[in-house]
Amino acid sequence: MKEIEWFETYETGFEEIDHDHRNIFDIANGTMRALARGDRDECLRLAGDFVIALETHFPREEAFLREIGYPHVAKHAAHHQGLLRQANRFADLCGRPGQGALPAEPFEKLVSVMLADFRGGDLDFRTFLMEKGLDKAMVEDRFGSVWL
Ligand SMILES: [Fe+2]
Ligand SMILES: [Fe+2]
Repeated sequence: MKEIEWFETYETGFEEIDHDHRNIFDIANGTMRALARGDRDECLRLAGDFVIALETHFPREEAFLREIGYPHVAKHAAHHQGLLRQANRFADLCGRPGQGALPAEPFEKLVSVMLADFRGGDLDFRTFLMEKGLDKAMVEDRFGSVWL
């Protein structure tokens, strides 16, 4: 499995969201390297980090989306829950020694769903903001406290 590359197009322009996303990216790439080496302990550790990073990021992003009045929060949150379930399943699989090969394929699927979240839902709100005529500075000024 190839490591994933960060593209500028993934950037939402909101530092806090982008920071979380980059962190999740780094953990995913570390996990891929551990899978390639067959390092079960490191896989298990990073799978735990991955779950924690998602559990931290999703409520913050959803709170932000609610604050700006984004209309598709429920749909986006449901997508997040699916992703979190997949991440937990992956962590479970990593933690089962004696099961043969490490679960590279489930992780690959998880990463593709995660990238769909970054590329789709997480960028969609920018269009919404533009349509509403809200610019980044105004939003940060009004809703900066969400990310605490
Ligand atoms: Fe998201
Ligand atoms: Fe996100």
